Amino acid sequence: MCGIIGYIGKEKCIPKIISGLEALEYRGYDSAGIAYIKNNKVIIKKEKGKIINLKNNLNFDEETYLGIGHTRWATHGEANKVNAHPHNIGKWTIVHNGIIENYAELKLELLDKGYTFKSNTDTEVACAKLDDLYKDEKDILKTLKKATTIFKGSYAFGIICSDDSSNLYAIRNTSPLIIATSDEGNFIASDVPAILNYTNKYILLDDCEIAKISNNSINIYNSSLEEIKKDILTFEGSMEVAAKNGYEHFMLKEINEQDKVFKDTINFYFDGTIDSLKNNFSFLDKYKKIDIVACGSAYHTGLIGKYLIENYANIPVNVEVASEYRYKKCFYDKDTLVILVSQSGETADTLAALRKAKDDNIDTLAIVNVIGSSIAREADKVIYIKAGCEIAVATTKAYTAQLAIFSLITTYLGFINKIIDEYELTNLLDDFKKMPKEIKKIIDDYKKYFDIADKIFKNKQIFFIGRGIDYAISMEASLKLKEISYINSVAYQAGELKHGTISLIEKNTPVIAIATDKKLYEKTVSNIKEVKSRGANVILVSNQLPDDKFYDDLILIPQIHPILVSILTIIPLQLLAYKVAKNNNCDIDKPRNLAKSVTVE
Ligand code: M6R
Repeated sequence: MCGIIGYIGKEKCIPKIISGLEALEYRGYDSAGIAYIKNNKVIIKKEKGKIINLKNNLNFDEETYLGIGHTRWATHGEANKVNAHPHNIGKWTIVHNGIIENYAELKLELLDKGYTFKSNTDTEVACAKLDDLYKDEKDILKTLKKATTIFKGSYAFGIICSDDSSNLYAIRNTSPLIIATSDEGNFIASDVPAILNYTNKYILLDDCEIAKISNNSINIYNSSLEEIKKDILTFEGSMEVAAKNGYEHFMLKEINEQDKVFKDTINFYFDGTIDSLKNNFSFLDKYKKIDIVACGSAYHTGLIGKYLIENYANIPVNVEVASEYRYKKCFYDKDTLVILVSQSGETADTLAALRKAKDDNIDTLAIVNVIGSSIAREADKVIYIKAGCEIAVATTKAYTAQLAIFSLITTYLGFINKIIDEYELTNLLDDFKKMPKEIKKIIDDYKKYFDIADKIFKNKQIFFIGRGIDYAISMEASLKLKEISYINSVAYQAGELKHGTISLIEKNTPVIAIATDKKLYEKTVSNIKEVKSRGANVILVSNQLPDDKFYDDLILIPQIHPILVSILTIIPLQLLAYKVAKNNNCDIDKPRNLAKSVTVE
């Protein structure tokens, strides 16, 4: 969370920094700020709220060629102008993404030395510490090297020292940071989209490395201050992916891309033959147990993955939220594969869970969207989903692409473990081919789901129920709705309602009941009737056409193999969540208090 950018070059820096911040706004949008050097003086401007507030108070024509910028997701101290970055103490001005865990201890020490602080942030403390270290070291690189041994936690810093107005500096630990290079100058940024208007050539800075960047040179040093060579990478995407292309919101655009994303993800690993699956997934053959670890929606895809792999491949799967897994006793062994699922590849808890498994010598596989992200780089193996750049904070297309990967893995393991026979395999392969069209048809029917949204958007709470895989889908549908509409929504196992939650059901309470698993259909229908008889407004989401009218609205899901059904089921519910949020005038792409990439614990 938080986005940082810096530029030094031949061209004026303010337009470049603002354009970079706009591309990084998905990482946080509580406040924004910029620091630049003009006539050898550091000037800082910051504003509470979104980047537009900062932008309106800047002169884009300012003669300044070195600057750093920040868009914040508050961790220490409320979201106000004082706590906004950049922070400045003495000769040092910095922007920061991450959390300095030992900041309280450092602050006491610095207060004793006479430092005073305006903000409540850990960043201002880090800035003071740099100033303090510089008094002894008297050298910028040595100061930064020392700082990397003192700061605990996660950080990516963009740094200006007023003693050197010809260079921009950066250090990082855990939080992502790239350095990009172009003929007109060089950049630092939290993520690639920030620089794509100017260049697609970049270097990944690794933990504890120090970067010194001028308008025509980039020098990287290791923790012994020896200069090291780094590969210059080329990003193959384009900035067009980060445009709304006529859609009112990125979320709607991304929902509409799901037929293509499914196709791209599947086609990358599967040419219609089992041999292609063998080529890509035979490394999985040796594992007898799987742990899937992730956060948020990625955790929900893991729950579906568990259901599929256990039922179709007969391999036990344990799914855990990463923030719990990283601290719990794990019962894994050499036969276990730990699968980390993450769109961004930077989620701090998921990255920590990966490192824990690696420290214990357990094999790891990452299912990731962002190429070259920390989780992708550190896992033993990586399977990239092909979702492209996802901007909306609420994930849709990346979720679908993660499910596509679990469907492929299940098909492969199910076949080699002889649970899926040749006949079923042939049908399943046909269904994989049908999927993009089916996804498209559902998206084109959006008006149906929008009409249902129009009936329920004023409700204060909305329940989702389901059994088995349908419960896992309910969890994602409920998260999608609540994170963007702020309506309290909870998902329950359909059979569990009568043990307490049913007391919350009153006349017209919306209950969205998912029933796609044929084996459990009748059981779920009984639970639906229980809520219906207590006045609930039931929206049934099913691939069965019921004889009897125990529901108020029906979302009919097309017939498809059960390995693929969850993908078709979530899409109407994404559209429904979108319309509920739109009717409530919510900020759909940037819901309050959230950020796309959660790089703090
Ligand atoms: O980048 P990741 O997939 O690791 O992110 C995990 C969650 O933070 C993410 O899925 C979050 O729950 C989304 N806001 C859901 O829409």
